[in-house]
Amino acid sequence: MKKTFIAGALGALMALSLAACGSSSTPNATTAAATTGAETEAAATTAAASDAETTAAAGESTAAADSSAKKEGAAEGSGKMMDIPKDGLTTVEAGKLIVGTSPDFAPYEFYHVNNGTPELSGFDVALAHRIADDLGLELEIVPIDFDGILMELQNGNLDLGISGFSPSPERKQTFDFTNVYYQGGQSFVIRKADADKYKSYADFNGLPVGAQNGSIQMDLAKENTPDANIIGLPKVTDIVSELVTGKLEGGFIETAVAEQYCKNYPELQIAWDVPYDSEGSAVAVKKGNTAMVDAVNAIINNALTDGSMNQYITDAQELASDEANVYEGQLDANGQIETTAAAN
Ligand code: ARG
Repeated sequence: MKKTFIAGALGALMALSLAACGSSSTPNATTAAATTGAETEAAATTAAASDAETTAAAGESTAAADSSAKKEGAAEGSGKMMDIPKDGLTTVEAGKLIVGTSPDFAPYEFYHVNNGTPELSGFDVALAHRIADDLGLELEIVPIDFDGILMELQNGNLDLGISGFSPSPERKQTFDFTNVYYQGGQSFVIRKADADKYKSYADFNGLPVGAQNGSIQMDLAKENTPDANIIGLPKVTDIVSELVTGKLEGGFIETAVAEQYCKNYPELQIAWDVPYDSEGSAVAVKKGNTAMVDAVNAIINNALTDGSMNQYITDAQELASDEANVYEGQLDANGQIETTAAAN
């Protein structure tokens, strides 16, 4: 049964062996799982060395860049628990909190198959539950492809978008965002076998490079690989399977997600980190709904302060590592795992 899910979802592409996703500079893949954080930091060090810091001698640049290279994980709370302001708080449907998410993004949001039943899981999903509980509302999570979430929010069909949203300046013109609850990073992913072939973005000129539709990764693709053949796909899962099958040569993927996929697809690896200015994940709210932003900000602060966010992240990573029962994508009309991918 378990294997049917994977086979259905991802066809024969699924590699069943567990392997860590090291960067090309990682000589020993078997130790990569334990050292991923350190590697990411080290790699980010290079990427994050800002102009101001490059005035330091080369030998000192590591220490200088360390302060600007933020580590992946929970953001910082104020350290003080806050009262949750609920005055003037209204929702799309009275008594309910309707949240949109795109469950192709472990460990943020994905399905974990529990005794044959796909259950929405991930630290974004745990946060959604926390918000609904603290507001005394019944949670309804609507799975939507990523590029549809903000539109549904705008149209008044959702109260919140919780889907690893980067609060970019462009989005902030049209939507409100809460404070950041997770500090992430961006990665460029290739096939491990191509590590010697691809050393810089210029090597991708004219070649197919993927990014998720409507994501900031699409902006990063246009910025970093303007001369590549940039392919937008609805799901991160699609980018991964097209990389594996050779339809894509590279892909821009959020680091925590890239690491998770690379664990399940040992033939892939993170080639290098991609610097990005509006790093971190925040909850998207309809423009002008300040009562909602204030309430959710207090809840985020509390979840960061009382350590629950850390717990949500640890739990999500653990569940996402149960790869035989992880599904990333949408369910079909019967609430089952879509099998169309296998036909491709
Ligand atoms: N952080 C990126 C963005 O905001 C990607 C988020 C994608 N989320 C997802 N669940 N697929 O554009």
